[in-house]
Amino acid sequence: MLDNKKILFCLCGGIAVYKCVELASQMVKEGAIIKTIMTKSAMEFVTPLTFQSITKNTVSYKLFNHEANIEHISLADWADIIVIVPATANIIGKIANGIADDLITTTVMASSCPKLIVPAMNVNMYENPILQENINKLKSFDFMFLEPEIGRLACGYEGKGRMPAIDEIIYALKVYLHHQADLKGKSFLVTAGASIEKIDPMRYITNISSGKMGFALARAAYLRGGQVTLIYSSVAEKLPYYVKSIQALSAKEMHDQVLRLFPDFDCVISCAAVADFTPQNPSPVKIKKSENLTIELVRTIDILKEMGEKKDKQYLIGFAAESENILKNAHQKLENKNLNMIVANDLKMAGKTDSEIFIIKKNQNEDSSIQYQGDKFFLANKILDEYINDETT
Ligand code: CTP
Repeated sequence: MLDNKKILFCLCGGIAVYKCVELASQMVKEGAIIKTIMTKSAMEFVTPLTFQSITKNTVSYKLFNHEANIEHISLADWADIIVIVPATANIIGKIANGIADDLITTTVMASSCPKLIVPAMNVNMYENPILQENINKLKSFDFMFLEPEIGRLACGYEGKGRMPAIDEIIYALKVYLHHQADLKGKSFLVTAGASIEKIDPMRYITNISSGKMGFALARAAYLRGGQVTLIYSSVAEKLPYYVKSIQALSAKEMHDQVLRLFPDFDCVISCAAVADFTPQNPSPVKIKKSENLTIELVRTIDILKEMGEKKDKQYLIGFAAESENILKNAHQKLENKNLNMIVANDLKMAGKTDSEIFIIKKNQNEDSSIQYQGDKFFLANKILDEYINDETT
């Protein structure tokens, strides 16, 4: 999704600027065309030559460059998106207050494309009310922010201030190239991962769901301005750090959490691979070896079906992983569970980087399914596009 997109990469003087070397490399791998601007302070940490070599493109840092055309205007006109990283309290303060005294701030002032700011600094500086007021002011002018992560900071402090992982910045760029905060005012409850049904304290029954699709949906909905809560079971991925997350391992735990919360949400996306069966009498002690072991399994509650019966105005999205009669089975689930949308996927594609999905909506039959193919983050955005289309028509 960054293919041939023109990214103006603005680097400031925070220690995290060394991580931007890897970020530049990832953006190039994703097909982006990058031009870089560095502040004087950024060049104290990393040299322009590093970014010039990785991006195979220009690195600018002088406001008054007599050889070039009026560079802050030409760069502003050139860019599809501007990303400022690691954004210091100084650069945020200058932009928020209309100061334009270097190449980054003058270019930002002259630009009309989307702008993503990624702050990274000491926790006390980040939490300073002056900075927070500047951030809120810029948000009100449609600047996008990716908040810092909590963790160990270069200054030795622990707290909120770390530059986010490279992947998270790339996800944010992919979103803001195409969408602004179009899901603002909407709330999403997303379930993800594989449930765990205990046999004894050591053993359990589960399935191969990684949780990636649910995480992609939670991430995309949040970045597009939605208020998101994620309920997750067993997952093989790092949680999106900015999303409010609650763990619920078994089908019963997930049922209790989801049913408690869902009345307060506009949209529920049930992406978790919830077990259909659970051991009837899980053993409180470890089961010892014997010739044979028979485990009696009983049905779990169908969480989505129960929401379909109890729902008021909630928009319900379900998933159907099928290996045959994909559309027919998915359509049946859409109707049986009283859903607004079902997303079907072919289990034959499981484990591949690109997936294929078929979307069927309420009151539509399987012949009018909509098909999309791409990586999970792309598909998550398409599912949300379909949701917002329905909500606005
Ligand atoms: N689901 C749920 N509670 C369950 C089981 C599934 O909420 N106990 C949800 C899943 O999150 C998913 C959808 O229902 O959105 C899947 O539908 P389902 O009919 O359970 O599909 P399968 O488990 O694949 O069932 P089948 O074996 O009948 O195909």
